[in-house]
Amino acid sequence: MINFWKGLHQAVFLLAPMEDVTDTTFREVVLSLSEPDCLHVIFTEFTSTDGLCHEKGRPNVISRLKVNESERRLLKEKNVKLVAQIWGSKPENHYRSAKIISEMGFDGIDVNMGCPIKKIVKQGGCSALIGEPELAGEIIQASMEGSELPVSVKTRIGINKIITDEWVSHLLKFDLPALTVHGRTQKMQSDGLADWNEIEKAARLRDEMEKDTLIFGNGDVMSLEEGMEKIKRHQLDGVMIGRGIFRSPWFFSTQNNNPSIKERLDVLCKHARLFHKTWDKKKNFAIQKRFFKIYVNNFAGAAELRAKLMETSNLDEVEQVIMQYKRI
Ligand SMILES: Cc1cc2nc3c(=O)[nH]c(=O)nc-3n(C[C@H](O)[C@H](O)[C@H](O)COP(=O)(O)O)c2cc1C
Repeated sequence: MINFWKGLHQAVFLLAPMEDVTDTTFREVVLSLSEPDCLHVIFTEFTSTDGLCHEKGRPNVISRLKVNESERRLLKEKNVKLVAQIWGSKPENHYRSAKIISEMGFDGIDVNMGCPIKKIVKQGGCSALIGEPELAGEIIQASMEGSELPVSVKTRIGINKIITDEWVSHLLKFDLPALTVHGRTQKMQSDGLADWNEIEKAARLRDEMEKDTLIFGNGDVMSLEEGMEKIKRHQLDGVMIGRGIFRSPWFFSTQNNNPSIKERLDVLCKHARLFHKTWDKKKNFAIQKRFFKIYVNNFAGAAELRAKLMETSNLDEVEQVIMQYKRI
């Protein structure tokens, strides 16, 4: 087994798995703007193991695991690892999914034990597994048995109340190469603030149990500096960045944290072209619209430009709006 996690020594920065956000096109944009050593691991959107294991369901979910060749080239060039994230509640489907994913060129598999969305939790997957430690263990073991790839976990600190001690010490028994802890309970969804003292507790439990598991903290980190500060203060191996990337796709860069308007609009167009080329009619253009505010904000006329962009319904219209703006 090639366990890439073992080769990561310094403060590790990870881009979080985010549904309808971290597809191959946005990952490529982020990679292209990132500096070496500022970003180490990125994740796919979470992918249903039940979907992957059913012939009829597979076409609906497999796009979540798509990796363009252009993204693969950048991953290699920037030495960033790509991990496929899966979720479900049936160990046998995790085993089979791990086998499928092994053939797809990923560096690792991550099991989602954190998502709090009701319709997912109802199916017994993701954060529901915090209340089913035995099943969670079977799922980890089945994923490990199905694949030569390293299997990590991303989770939260409890369901209704914080149970970091018992939950994390249970997970650590499975000798995971890496564990990401989002410092909120399921009940909190995205409300309140992540509790970094609980995340730190996870790292101390790891030390006490003398495990090699890397512990990454997740929740509310909005800059590289803040991430470094959290790593040092809480003695963690790294931090995972989710919504921070909405502040700026240049998040993982120390040189260019104030890109010009032209740079931003050029990247917006590049992203829209890549999205169109990759997904054409397979994905709704509305998904792409959510990204406009990431590129168009904090400059005179940004709100008006954004409003015009929100009225577009295809790539040509986006390019026209941007061209008109550049002419003014
Ligand atoms: C739009 C969106 C989609 C998400 N999709 C996933 C997902 O597919 N898998 C997952 O483990 N977490 C998912 N999350 C949770 C994030 O990975 C992360 O844990 C959460 O946003 C907290 O980190 P942050 O404060 O840095 O954003 C999603 C979050 C957002 C905002």
